Amino acid sequence: MEKILVLDFGGQYDLLIARRVRENGVFAEIKPYDRISLDEIISNGYKGIIFTGGPNSVYDSNSPHYDPAILGIGIPVLGICYGHQLIAYMAGGAIRSAGSISEYGKTELAAYACPIFENVPQKSVCWMSHTDYVSSVPEGFETVAFTDNCPCAAMADVRRRIYGVQFHPEVTHTEYGKTILRNFLFGVCGCAGDWKMDDFIEKTVAKYKAELKGKRVLCALSGGVDSSVAAALMHRAVGENLTCVFVDHGLLRKNEGDDVESVFRGKFNMKLIRVNAEDRFLTRLKGVCEPEKKRKIIGEEFIRVFEEQSRVLGKMDVLVQGTIYPDIIESGKGDASTIKSHHNVGGLPSVMDFESIVEPLKELFKDEVRAVGLQLGIPEKLVMRQPFPGPGLAVRIIGEITKAKADTLREADAIFREELERAGVRPSQYFAVLTDTQSVGVMGDARTYGHTVALRAVTTDDFMTADWTRIPYEVLETVSRRITNEVKTINRVVYDITSKPPATVEWE
Ligand code: XMP
Repeated sequence: MEKILVLDFGGQYDLLIARRVRENGVFAEIKPYDRISLDEIISNGYKGIIFTGGPNSVYDSNSPHYDPAILGIGIPVLGICYGHQLIAYMAGGAIRSAGSISEYGKTELAAYACPIFENVPQKSVCWMSHTDYVSSVPEGFETVAFTDNCPCAAMADVRRRIYGVQFHPEVTHTEYGKTILRNFLFGVCGCAGDWKMDDFIEKTVAKYKAELKGKRVLCALSGGVDSSVAAALMHRAVGENLTCVFVDHGLLRKNEGDDVESVFRGKFNMKLIRVNAEDRFLTRLKGVCEPEKKRKIIGEEFIRVFEEQSRVLGKMDVLVQGTIYPDIIESGKGDASTIKSHHNVGGLPSVMDFESIVEPLKELFKDEVRAVGLQLGIPEKLVMRQPFPGPGLAVRIIGEITKAKADTLREADAIFREELERAGVRPSQYFAVLTDTQSVGVMGDARTYGHTVALRAVTTDDFMTADWTRIPYEVLETVSRRITNEVKTINRVVYDITSKPPATVEWE
């Protein structure tokens, strides 16, 4: 299998780079620079190497470096940001601090003809983020792009197939970033681009088959896309040794519990335990209004339920979770600051009875997780469905949670989803939120004092940013009429027209 090595020097975009490579049908492997030797690189047969960015300056005494011999082994290299400066440094060039004229953000790039700029216009927009720059290009290299403030925005040693770019081709703000990466992968490295998600599945299954041999594995199944895919993947790896525990915390959508049960017990014939824990969760959530507290409680309670189940089942060694990459960065594990603690990352209690936690999807983005799910044979209805947060309706009931409120929200939410599906409107995520507001209404001749429900629908690729969906008025009208007619305690329906940022997708 052809593969690209993403040599990580501590930047925040290593996974994004790998994703961009994989999008092109080429497998990308990420290795921290200090965990792979030059001999291993040579013997692993990589088609190309990408040096990532990093927060340091190459002259810092503790900055990450690599054996300069890597530039002489005949494997093409693309250095990005710090990686670009590192190549220059290793090859005998010079780097200087840009001081007050450091560049950050969208910048106009002027590029010369060069294999990595094939089909890239002479002028385009790129995304810059740096304080240092290459001030003297090493021997054998030539400058192939510049910006107003950066004399060497890209350099190339075409003969040795070594390239460096100061900007970030992996982020969408770089207009021709995808083209540049494709040029490197196909034009420079000669990749064929025939890697598919099957390869990810094969590799992951083989890895866990070996690592978890003889271990008893418990999977936390929430019924959402991520944990479903994680369960099916691990089932393939450890078969009968996997037991799935599906916790119905009473904060699921209408009919969700039964649907999950029928797929995993019925179709996949997995060992599935459904724990009906509504009372226990609602009791712990009583009087709790603060969103992060709700998440923490639910996260803890989940784990307690699993631990109890594992005691009933006998000692379980490993816990599987469906954490995916955006969960990790949004929870502040990377360099991004904490926004919300997703229950399956930030809310984990520190004392746990398991030997280890396995998160087989933690390097994948949502669309990749879906592709894996389809390959594994999970029904399309489940795989393609919109994401649903682990804490469920708890973060969609503003203020205190009660069973009556959850039931009310479930009905309104089911109507909203049903009508959008009927109308063929498919936002990336759409749901109802029970606000903490009650207001006056009139029904027949009587005054009412009922709940306000908010409808939320967003369109997005990656859930990091999202636009509110322009749902046709007629559809909104039908939804509003049906909710106020069919759900007794709701007398007002509003539509949320805020994008992310400044809002988040969920209200809590
Ligand atoms: P936000 O609200 O952060 O949501 O813009 C982005 C995506 O993440 C989902 N989300 C969660 N998923 N546990 C989860 O498993 C959580 O606590 C959680 N909070 C938000 C949200 O539904 C959206 O898809």
